Amino acid sequence: MDVKKVIQQMTLEEKAGICSGSDFWHTKAVERLGIPQMMVSDGPHGLRKQDLESDHLGINESIKAVCFPAGCATAASFDRDLLYSMGQALGNECQAEGVAVILGPAVNIKRSPLCGRNFEYYSEDPYLATEIAASHIKGVQSKNVGTSIKHFLANNQEHRRMSSSSEVDERTLRELYLAAFEGAIKEAKPWTVMCAYNRINGVYAAENKTYLTDVLRDEWGYEGMIISDWGAVNNRVADLAAGLDLEMPSSSGLTDKMIVEAVQNGTLDEAVLDKAVENILNVVERFESNRDTEAVFDRDADHALARKVAQECIVLLKNEDVLPLKTEESVAIIGEFAKAPRYQGGGSSHINSHKVESVWEILMECDSCKDKVYFAQGYSTKEDIIDEKKIAQAVELAKQTDKAVLFAGLPDSYESEGFDRSHMKMPEGQNALIEAVAEANPNTIVVLHNGSPVEMPWADKVSGIIEAYLGGQAIGGAVADVLYGKVNPSGHLAESFPIKLEDNPSYLYYHGEGDRVEYREGVFAGYRYYDTKKMEVRFPFGHGLSYTAFVYSNVKLSEDSIRDTDSLEVSVDVTNTGDRAGKEVVQLYVAPPKDGRIIRPVHELKGFEKVFLEPGETKTVTFTLSKRAFAYYETKINDWHVETGKYTIELGQSSRKILAECEVQVESTRRLPLNINLDTLFGDIQKIPGTEKILEPFIKIFTEFDMGGDDKLGSSTKEMMESMLRDLPLRGLVSFVQGKVSYQQLYDLMEQLNYLLFKIG
Ligand code: BGC
Repeated sequence: MDVKKVIQQMTLEEKAGICSGSDFWHTKAVERLGIPQMMVSDGPHGLRKQDLESDHLGINESIKAVCFPAGCATAASFDRDLLYSMGQALGNECQAEGVAVILGPAVNIKRSPLCGRNFEYYSEDPYLATEIAASHIKGVQSKNVGTSIKHFLANNQEHRRMSSSSEVDERTLRELYLAAFEGAIKEAKPWTVMCAYNRINGVYAAENKTYLTDVLRDEWGYEGMIISDWGAVNNRVADLAAGLDLEMPSSSGLTDKMIVEAVQNGTLDEAVLDKAVENILNVVERFESNRDTEAVFDRDADHALARKVAQECIVLLKNEDVLPLKTEESVAIIGEFAKAPRYQGGGSSHINSHKVESVWEILMECDSCKDKVYFAQGYSTKEDIIDEKKIAQAVELAKQTDKAVLFAGLPDSYESEGFDRSHMKMPEGQNALIEAVAEANPNTIVVLHNGSPVEMPWADKVSGIIEAYLGGQAIGGAVADVLYGKVNPSGHLAESFPIKLEDNPSYLYYHGEGDRVEYREGVFAGYRYYDTKKMEVRFPFGHGLSYTAFVYSNVKLSEDSIRDTDSLEVSVDVTNTGDRAGKEVVQLYVAPPKDGRIIRPVHELKGFEKVFLEPGETKTVTFTLSKRAFAYYETKINDWHVETGKYTIELGQSSRKILAECEVQVESTRRLPLNINLDTLFGDIQKIPGTEKILEPFIKIFTEFDMGGDDKLGSSTKEMMESMLRDLPLRGLVSFVQGKVSYQQLYDLMEQLNYLLFKIG
């Protein structure tokens, strides 16, 4: 279909009609012009195709599909290639099922551990989130199926999600909340972007021209289709004008009529409507002209891939020589989750899994271990109580075995789309069970199934902790593989685990007052806060252990000093010094200059690579850093800016475990605008190169001025006077050194300085 030509032939009503769904999951067809319907489905970590009864809350059944690990888990893989393969599989499933767009990935920053949808989101760090999202998108789209990166923008809570306003300053938006989208949108070009329900600084995301058009389209060059979250449209005509192309789901024709009227009465330019139609039809056409009629949804093959993905996502949080288990050891397997794992979250991402494997089933199939493992239920997710009887049975079993592996975490009712948690605790009954079993058996290991961090009051009492997250339908096999060492764990946390909820930087302001949610912690989300405050955390961002050990050496920079327009190469040798093969996630953080004038986190993640190493093997890992790795967002120039200074490049295994570092001098090539007036501080002028001579006479007058001796200013030294001068506005010279400097002299000085600034540009 020649989209532009077709639009010329469409009536106003047909064009308006195309801009909203025909039902829950389809766009409208225009048969007379050969425009077919297009189907979209959730996403993000499996295909939720609803053939019959539709809804967006995961209530009605969808087709049997494969549930891959959720975003909380896949981000922990720190593995771009893995996300690409998972994306390819999802894309292929969509081709087989005739689904044009799979709704995801969901990249919103984890501002608080409480957000009910954290299980779907990737990280508290925008660089990690956006890199992982880019690979997911590229994988899906390599199969000629679209994605919908969501929920744009600042949708970081479920509480009042359809009315709340995220009040965020521009720098914070740019550095965190927009950045999570920016990299993936620029690099992977998702076919669609889904706008969020909430408002941003008072304006609904759906009608927010600043972000939908000025930033997304004009600044980032986005050319795809912008789609509303289901029911996010609040004022159809204003939304269209702001840049929202497709309203989902159907509005039963009501909003189509509003569009027609608006064009007819001149309040909406028809060209705006035409552009939206073009964006929508481009996606329809792209899918239709690239249909893969051979594609088959091979559920068993994708289940096997889901297990592989889950293996890479599991994070070994603690291991005091208890893992891996040996097949000859007797093991108490405790907890309902061992037989019925919690492997996915609730809401629109809920997959009708074609099968689910529990760890217990897998162990029962394992000839070398099945006779050595014993089960006790320990708790029931149906009742939120401390079940003394079940705990006593579990303790009894744990006393008789070499080791105890206890499966715990959050039941479905604790976290889901649609509401936030009110605390970070696990069920009391599970905490009590863990304490009791740990006392009965010193070799107790806890395996967690949860979509978001939990408080672990028992963390010091157990010998091992595995974070299995919501690892998809094949998680049972993946956990067994890690427990018995068939797989060497290589996941690392994509979020910090604070000791308690109150430690989280958004704690005081999360949920806000009514609909007004102020992001007062600013750029200090997650580890940016904990690390800057040097706070103790339960497990830091990036943390993850292995059954082998890695050593870093030979860190090299391509240059010791660069300009902010140059790129810098950083390399480090990584050696596997243990006796088994394993994968290391090398994380690169950049720390700003120690004497910088901008309030910034102590360091930020700017690179990561996952490498596989045989025992004894060494590989060189290389990173390329460009301006953005050193920059902060400067609102004075509405752009990214690098402060001149010495930056530290840190390489490590977590934000708290830096194994190697080195320094690079970065020179800014852009001077921030300064309009010199009587209120400008002397010190700010001194920083401008070339002003030394002009300022010299004033420095002399000030530093040599007799302020009245010891009784007035104490023993004033030249240095003291110089520092005082730095913070003095120009006008202060008149009052401080009375009689020595006149206003006329200051006017002349300002003229000279402004001329110099004009000359240096
Ligand atoms: C969710 C989206 C989802 C859509 C369709 C909404 O409620 O926020 O993430 O894609 O429903 O199910």
